[in-house]
Amino acid sequence: MYGMVNQAIEAMVTEKFGAPQWELIKARAGVEDPAFVMMKQYPDAVTYALATAVAEHMNMPIADVLHAFGVYWIEFAGKGPWGKLMKASGSNTYELLGALDAMHTRIAVSFPALEPPSFRVEPRDGGLLLEYRSHRPGLAPFVLGLVQGVGNMYGEHLDIKQIAAKDAGAPCDAFMVRTRPAHTSE
Ligand code: HEM
Repeated sequence: MYGMVNQAIEAMVTEKFGAPQWELIKARAGVEDPAFVMMKQYPDAVTYALATAVAEHMNMPIADVLHAFGVYWIEFAGKGPWGKLMKASGSNTYELLGALDAMHTRIAVSFPALEPPSFRVEPRDGGLLLEYRSHRPGLAPFVLGLVQGVGNMYGEHLDIKQIAAKDAGAPCDAFMVRTRPAHTSE
């Protein structure tokens, strides 16, 4: 994946736990590069090793790390021009989720070797069914966090539930997403 992704992991860890913890996590992941280059491609194994090292070092489940990283990614990518692209791609969560493939296609103009995932949406039971397909394994918790981050960006409260898992033999990961009025609780 492009260095920008690893840079975001670094920014999240540094912000939440401090720079010395990041150095320990990087060492644990076996990463020797002093810094990541945004536009350079790194093996996916580097990103997985970093996420695993965060989980081990912080004694957190990997799913929680990926979820937190998804929420953080939207804040991180949302700064500057990418935030404008997200807002231009949809004026609320449902609209943006319906435009993710088109948006990653636009992003690929800047990142030509991008290997983006693919999403499909369908209105269902007053909410939105979101299907996620990728050649990369294990990233469903990341998607849950990303969708949460998108809801945060629009100031919308969301209920998000995974309803099918590729890990468990389903053809793809699928989620039900529902916006709910701000005054109601879970
Ligand atoms: C404008 C904001 C965004 C930018 C700049 C961006 C860019 C990227 C980049 C650079 C990658 C790494 C892929 C590679 O290097 O081959 C990636 C992966 C990914 N993106 Fe985006 N993205 C954005 C928003 C989103 C949103 C809103 C979602 C979903 C709600 C999303 C879902 C994903 C997922 C799940 C991956 C992991 C790769 C995979 O599943 O195969 N992205 N994105």
